[in-house]
Amino acid sequence: MARVLIIGSLEAELGAAARIAAARGARLAVAEGAAAGLARLRGEGADLVLCDVVHDVAWLIGQLANERIACPVVACGRPDDAEGAVRAIRAGAKEFLPLPPDADLIAAMLQAVAGEPDRPVVRDPAMAALLGRAEQVARAEASVLITGESGTGKEVLARHIHAASRRARGPFVALNCAALPETLLESELFGHEKGAFSGAVAARKGKFEQAEGGTLLLDEIGEMDPRLQAKILRAIQEREIDRLGGAAPVKVDVRILAATHRDLAAEVAAGRFREDLYFRLAVVRLRIPPLRERREDILPLARHFAERYARANGLPPRGLSPAAEALLLRHAWPGNVRELENTLHRAVLLAEGPAIGPEAIDLLDPLPAARVPAPAGQPAGPPQQAAQPVSALVGRRVEEVERDLIIETLSHCLGNRTRAAEMLGISIRTLRNKLHEYRAAGIAVPPVPGQPPCALPAG
Ligand SMILES: Nc1ncnc2c1ncn2[C@@H]1O[C@H](COP(=O)(O)OP(=O)(O)OP(=O)(O)O)[C@@H](O)[C@H]1O
Ligand SMILES: [Mg+2]
Repeated sequence: MARVLIIGSLEAELGAAARIAAARGARLAVAEGAAAGLARLRGEGADLVLCDVVHDVAWLIGQLANERIACPVVACGRPDDAEGAVRAIRAGAKEFLPLPPDADLIAAMLQAVAGEPDRPVVRDPAMAALLGRAEQVARAEASVLITGESGTGKEVLARHIHAASRRARGPFVALNCAALPETLLESELFGHEKGAFSGAVAARKGKFEQAEGGTLLLDEIGEMDPRLQAKILRAIQEREIDRLGGAAPVKVDVRILAATHRDLAAEVAAGRFREDLYFRLAVVRLRIPPLRERREDILPLARHFAERYARANGLPPRGLSPAAEALLLRHAWPGNVRELENTLHRAVLLAEGPAIGPEAIDLLDPLPAARVPAPAGQPAGPPQQAAQPVSALVGRRVEEVERDLIIETLSHCLGNRTRAAEMLGISIRTLRNKLHEYRAAGIAVPPVPGQPPCALPAG
């Protein structure tokens, strides 16, 4: 359930956006202006802010950056207010939402911040058994460590555990530990007191406190640096946290779920992850098998995504033709459920006629390393295009080829940062820094999935 903060008057068209978000299961909070909104973000936080452009969006975003509060802000306004839209985007707003709002656009935004709200789709016996075990441990208070390759559904399972737990009425708060630089991650986790650092003009609660009475998912915990690992251990053991610059610890009642695509035991053996924290987190371990090890799930998931994306795009529902099904069953799915989802998303947009045929199914090259981008000046080819010889790249700068490869890989992953970083063999942090550089240089970067504009891979 996404937590959405609306800044503006509900009497205006923003009220329609609020009603759509509420109907989609979002938990709403409203603030009359930017300063009141900021105060709420310091207190209970939010997954997404919708801010009317009549308020000072730029000030809010600047303040969030100063106070190290990571929360996407979407500016909302009349579609003819081009100036307001440009000002908001320049200031760092994620999107501009034209009013009156489009229900599908809001649904896409909510999905991007809160993930899949539905119950996990499972058919394979191994997965059904895993889900049964998850529901069984859900009722306990013990920490759970969820492992599995990227895109296998770790976050989906975490949300399911929360929903089946005694804390279901409390908040579910997720934090991707790989997506933020260390200083920002620390204040996201633990919050800070007024004056803790130069931008800290007011106290603010971190995710631990925001998840009070509920569940906190520490996603990609394997990427966390040792100093923060020590702080997390203390939070779990003592059930209290220290805000940055805080004089006294704060009690927290939070259940911790952790997820990683890494082999955490191996990370412990290599000295990169604290053993004591590992044992604290891994009281219960749930390993989600890769999709290639649970082939019975492929078609039920494919049908589920075909239906969902047809609905989300206002297209007629189409089934899969037998040839398309055969193609899906033959593929190895190195990107797991996320790859299947992206494939079906594209297929729904490309399909014509009564059913989704094999021609609409554009599968990922099983050997991404063999793919090289088109030379400068030429559009990059479609993903299934045969690899070009490396000699075609001679004469180009490494930096430029790297940039093309990164952007092309990211579009292929429909903007999914985690997946793209994994395919590229670089950390998410490195990827994020590079994208930041490109954006600063005025180069278009594929948006985060689910957030409009809904990008098809380039080419
Ligand atoms: N069993 C399932 N039923 C329905 N949708 C699923 C299922 N498993 C995964 N998905 C979908 O696949 C995508 C990837 O799932 P999720 O984000 O939970 O994976 P992850 O393991 O956390 O991936 P990553 O390591 O990339 O963060 C999501 O869009 C999710 O909604
Ligand atoms: Mg995840």
